[in-house]
Amino acid sequence: MISGRTKISPSEDNKIQDKLKQSGIIPVHIAVIMDGNGRWAKKRNLPRIAGHKEGVESVRDIVEVCGQLGVKYLTLYAFSTENWKRPKEEISMLMRLLMRALRDETDKLHRNNVRVHTIGDIETLPQEVQDELFDAIEKTKDNTGLHLYLALSYSGRWDLTEAIKRLADDVHRGKIKTEYISEEVISQYLSTKNVPDPDLLIRTSGEFRISNFLLWQLAYSEIYISPVYWPEFRRKYLYEAISDYQKRERRFGMVSEQIQQTKQKTSYTKRFIRHVSGL
Ligand code: FPP
Repeated sequence: MISGRTKISPSEDNKIQDKLKQSGIIPVHIAVIMDGNGRWAKKRNLPRIAGHKEGVESVRDIVEVCGQLGVKYLTLYAFSTENWKRPKEEISMLMRLLMRALRDETDKLHRNNVRVHTIGDIETLPQEVQDELFDAIEKTKDNTGLHLYLALSYSGRWDLTEAIKRLADDVHRGKIKTEYISEEVISQYLSTKNVPDPDLLIRTSGEFRISNFLLWQLAYSEIYISPVYWPEFRRKYLYEAISDYQKRERRFGMVSEQIQQTKQKTSYTKRFIRHVSGL
């Protein structure tokens, strides 16, 4: 059996990617709950940090392939607000790993036209991590390829709480009237303002939970649960997730017939434009 970490030859990989691009829509925004690092390590009688280290290899592979496929936004849940409750040694090793990964990978991310962003309560992170993060953000700020969002010290409830505080302040100062508050306005107060909501949420390690991730933003996302632990989750499994996503019908609260009609209209309009432009 081919494991997720087995290397696919570049030519075979190109073929798989081309097929995926032709077989349907590539999600614009993919969000990932990277879970199972500890269990991956435990299964191999290794310390938990070995799972996190191997997890960084999966991050590298998934970021690279998202760029190649033309995914525009990738949001990785790298450290949650709740993760601060973990043993101090694990937190400190995770922070060091994160710092090193940022230091080692920023140049490559930059060469690959990736733009780094963060969401979360960044000020709670150790100063050295913040420094590496700001360096990566600054260095990559003009890149136009994949937007990589690292969710660090992040939780959906934290995001909503902060948004509500700022919104309440603006109402209090008369900057916005209560009757003008809409879903669009609320979205602009969240840490993900100007980022389209995720089309696809992937969670690894077979758990069926959102775990306080992008609570507002995931309202209509397609959810894909992979049984594979994150350190094993390499491009092969991402291809499977996207292929599964392409088979779904996203109805956004409508009925199937309405979606089919919209698809027909879009396809007719595209054919019409091709016809009149002679393409
Ligand atoms: C969940 O596995 C994983 C984490 C809490 C950390 C994820 C971090 C990385 C993969 C490394 C740093 C990332 C970047 C962006 C460079 P778990 O420990 O909860 O696993 P378990 O549920 O099996 O115990």
